[in-house]
Order: sequence, then structure tokens, then C-alpha cells
Amino acid sequence: MTAKVIDGKEIAKKLRESIKVEVDKLKVNGKVPGLAVILVGIDPASQVYVGHKEKACKEAGFHSEVYKLAENTSQEELLSLIDKLNNDPNIHGILVQLPLPKHLDEKEVINRISFNKDVDGFHPLSAGALFVGEKSLVPCTPKGCIQLIKEIGYDLKGKKAVVVGRSNIVGKPVSILLLNENATVTICHSRTKDLKAELLEADVVVAAIGRPNFVTGDMIKPGAVVIDVGINRLDNGKLVGDVEFESAAEKASWITPVPGGVGPMTIAMLMQNTLEAFKS
Ligand code: GUN
Repeated sequence: MTAKVIDGKEIAKKLRESIKVEVDKLKVNGKVPGLAVILVGIDPASQVYVGHKEKACKEAGFHSEVYKLAENTSQEELLSLIDKLNNDPNIHGILVQLPLPKHLDEKEVINRISFNKDVDGFHPLSAGALFVGEKSLVPCTPKGCIQLIKEIGYDLKGKKAVVVGRSNIVGKPVSILLLNENATVTICHSRTKDLKAELLEADVVVAAIGRPNFVTGDMIKPGAVVIDVGINRLDNGKLVGDVEFESAAEKASWITPVPGGVGPMTIAMLMQNTLEAFKS
């Protein structure tokens, strides 16, 4: 079998266009959704991601503020900026780009963001709300994964989904979202005894481990849907996912590419969350 490729770039573009149409309708009274993005330090990948977020905001007609803070910014300075943004009526979403420099306390920073402006969905209240099925802003990358699966018309009900990775940002929340779609979910991680055996049972694979080409075609059940969350840069400069694309595509029915799969969806979902925060 040669898999069909899920074109995340195109799907995300359509979603962003529909968000723009909605923003145009809403802004009759001059108000638009506002997103503040905070970047501390000069991590090259983070700079690229923040640039993409800023561009997407402009294209969707959002108000956008980007704060680029020095590497040696103190915890107090960062917290007071978050306090200011929490109280700013023109800002509906606040995103602190991760990872933060080592001297900063990431948990305290995330916890300081108002629950109703937590467009990343990383606040413990957002995570808890997702866990118990209450309304909240859902983390962007997991939400994007589910949206991609829906876009191909795949019904998750009763299917076996295997998530590889248990991070708070992707692995855990995507598992809850799959469960909400009535999939039977297994979460695998570095201590899983026989990953290959688990994966060979999976109708749906979500790979979010952060290790280049880790999941190979021999681990994929014929006909599976493969969602690759990984973005890894090899020494030769090439970007690859957590899934070895060529060999996995021989087995899967559908597969996301890297780049151009989940990545663009993360940004589209951020726009969607900001719009949702604006409307609520
Ligand atoms: N760093 C990598 N991915 C993300 C994300 O989705 N949100 C934030 N805030 N930082 C990230």
C-alpha cells in the first residue's frame, strides 16, 4: 500500500481563510481578536515559530503583539508583562513560547496566564477542564491532529489509537481527545516494553516523541492512519518527523508529511483558539 498524504498545509490555509472571513464579519464595531506572543531569548527554532504566528495573525486580521525579551530577563519581569497582558482588553490570547531559558520557572509562568486567555491550553486549569470534559481552550497541536483525522473523513469510534509520547503539550492531551472521539487509546513511552507490538495493533498512530525517524514502516499495521507530530532537524539540515516517512508510507493508508503536516495545523488552531477566546 502506498499512503495518501494528508496535506496539512492546505487544510490549515483553508481554516485560516475561514477564520479571516469570520473576523471580517465580527469587526464591524472595530474590535478584533488580539494575540500577544512572548519570546524570551534567541533560540533559532522559536524565532521561526514566533514569526509564523505573527504572520498568521496579520493575515487573519487579528491584532498582534510580539514581545521579544532578552535571554537574561528575570522571572519578575516576565510575570509582570503577563499581568499587564492579562488586564489588557485588546488582548484575548497570551502565548509564551517554550522552551524558556533555564533560569526561568516555566510552570510559574504558565500558571500566571489567565485561564480565559490561555490559548496554548497549557494552564493546569485548562488541562483539568479537558480531563473532566468541561469547556476550555484545547492545546493547539493535539487539536490539529484530531482535525486532520476528521478532514480525511476517518471515524475514530472503536478504533485502536496508539500515541507514542506522554508530554503535557502533545501526548497526554491528544490521548484525551482521541478518547473523546471514542477511540481505544494506548499511550506508549520510553519505558514501554514492546513498542513494535503495540504499534502493530494500531489503526491510528500519533507519534510525538521528538526522535527523528523513530517509528519505521515495519512497526505500522497495513492501512493505519499515521499522524507525525515530530519536527527534528538532522545534521545535514533536513527536517524530518518522528516517523520514517518512506517506509511508513508503504504500509499506511494515510500519513502526514514533515514539514507540511501537523505543523501548519498548530498555527491554524492557535488562530481558532484566539478567536474562541475573543468571542467568549
Ligand atoms: N514550543 C513548541 N511548541 C509550542 C507550542 O505549541 N506553544 C508554545 N507556547 N511553545 C511551543
